[in-house]
Amino acid sequence: MKRAVISLFAGTAVIAAIAASGAIAAGPEAPSSGKKVWMSTGSERDEALKLTPNAENGKDVYEVCTACHMPEGWGLTDGTFPQVAGQHRTVIIKQLEDIREGNRDNPTMYPFAKPSEIGGAQAVADVAEYIARNLKMNPKPGYGPGTDLELGKKLYADNCVRCHGAGGEGDAEKYYPRIQAQHYAYLLRQYQWIKEGKRRNANPDMVEQIKNFTDRDTQAVLDYVSRLPAPPDLVGAADWKNPDFK
Ligand code: HEC
Ligand code: HEC
Repeated sequence: MKRAVISLFAGTAVIAAIAASGAIAAGPEAPSSGKKVWMSTGSERDEALKLTPNAENGKDVYEVCTACHMPEGWGLTDGTFPQVAGQHRTVIIKQLEDIREGNRDNPTMYPFAKPSEIGGAQAVADVAEYIARNLKMNPKPGYGPGTDLELGKKLYADNCVRCHGAGGEGDAEKYYPRIQAQHYAYLLRQYQWIKEGKRRNANPDMVEQIKNFTDRDTQAVLDYVSRLPAPPDLVGAADWKNPDFK
């Protein structure tokens, strides 16, 4: 393709432009355009992770989020909106920044979460702290059909435990999300998007790990994950209401 372009437009300017763009010089290992190295540094994310958070301001920032994620942070069991309650602060910062930086397509949320709407790195640090510290998790998330849980359990043990942990608790230090007790339909959508590369800053080792999963495997493992219970101290009562947004 590149050769064809060059022979068609044999002017030196065109060749120079292509060479300067790196398309010729770069070897086959180079990431394709738009794709970044996972957790590459130098972004607003790094700044937000280092700032001292102010949970009180985080409460004010969170107000706009309640419209979709609900005051309790439970999202919707049909998976339209994920549960954010219980998520690690570091993961919330990473994902929120990926959305703000266009690494995750989220046209529904973006207008409400962009810098001109909620502010810069400090606002991100603050709202993440508020969510992680104040919101209790949904005791009844959306589950899958429940018909293939033995397979799901086995697949989970073989393919997921090393990063997401035996109980799906994730790892705050490594930006591995808590996935236990997340809505099944949301897990399905994100898993698919990570597999297809639609989430452009997703962990490449996970993409590799799941590349041969069939539809049956995917449904089985995520049904199993949605049913993994969160630690009791993180979970709210069925009638828990966030007192900050009554
Ligand atoms: C208009 C609705 C809407 C608003 C307002 C909104 N969100 Fe979201 N949010 C979404 C949707 C939809 C998704 C899932 C997008 C997807 O499927 O990739 C999401 C995803 C997320 C995620 C990623 C969760 C995960 O586990 O992958 C985080 C974190 C998040 N939102 C935080 C926030 C915060 C903080 C605010 C307020 C500043 C906010 N959202 C406001 C709709 C919204
Ligand atoms: C090498 C580590 C690793 C392995 C193995 C791995 N994951 Fe992940 N997973 C991650 C990371 C890191 C993310 C966050 C994606 C990102 O970087 O933005 C993630 C994200 C996810 C998400 C999206 C969560 C959200 O809230 O958006 C789901 C669902 C998920 N993983 C399920 C699984 C399942 C099921 C398996 C096993 C079949 C698995 N993962 C194996 C590291 C891993």
